[in-house]
Amino acid sequence: MNKISSAQRKKILKFAEEEYKNNDVNHDFRHAKLTARLALSLAKQEGADEDICEIAGLLHDVAHRISKKNHAAIGASKVKQFLKKIKVDAEIANRICCAMSHHNERSYKAHKGAKAKEEKVVFDADRLLALGPIGFCRDFTYCILYAKMQPYDAVLDGENYVLTRYKQLKTKSARRIGKKAQEVMEIFYKVFKSQYKNG
Ligand SMILES: [Fe+2]
Ligand SMILES: [Fe+2]
Repeated sequence: MNKISSAQRKKILKFAEEEYKNNDVNHDFRHAKLTARLALSLAKQEGADEDICEIAGLLHDVAHRISKKNHAAIGASKVKQFLKKIKVDAEIANRICCAMSHHNERSYKAHKGAKAKEEKVVFDADRLLALGPIGFCRDFTYCILYAKMQPYDAVLDGENYVLTRYKQLKTKSARRIGKKAQEVMEIFYKVFKSQYKNG
């Protein structure tokens, strides 16, 4: 299995920057880079392949603008073609696409086969950005900008979203990283709801 060269890395980064341009603000290039960074850090802690996790993390949402529901699978097939074009080793490309295509709860559950470490790591890197203060910001943004909700309703709506992500985490390292973020939001909702009720 050949490693990914630095020239190929540069092409992947350029491809990602271009592909993320028309995504919504919650699934933009910044989200991709944060996911890649977290995936790399989790890969180190979990003994997973670092290149595969980092690149799958970077590319996982490239097709989000095409289909919210099926973006994981659509993105993986788009990336597969691109990696073939730039001559990335077929086995590495396969593993990257596999990790990408199961990065959300629905596709992860639907995928009943053996779950590779890299799949768990990329899944968790993305989940860590859907819980805690960052997860709250993203959900709040979605509710205000796209669902046109009132601010208080948007905060309350996020409770179901933000607080349920922690229990979906697949790796010990992610649970350790996410613990504080989860606790902060549990307190946040407790205080917010008491103020809201008494206000
Ligand atoms: Fe996604
Ligand atoms: Fe994502």
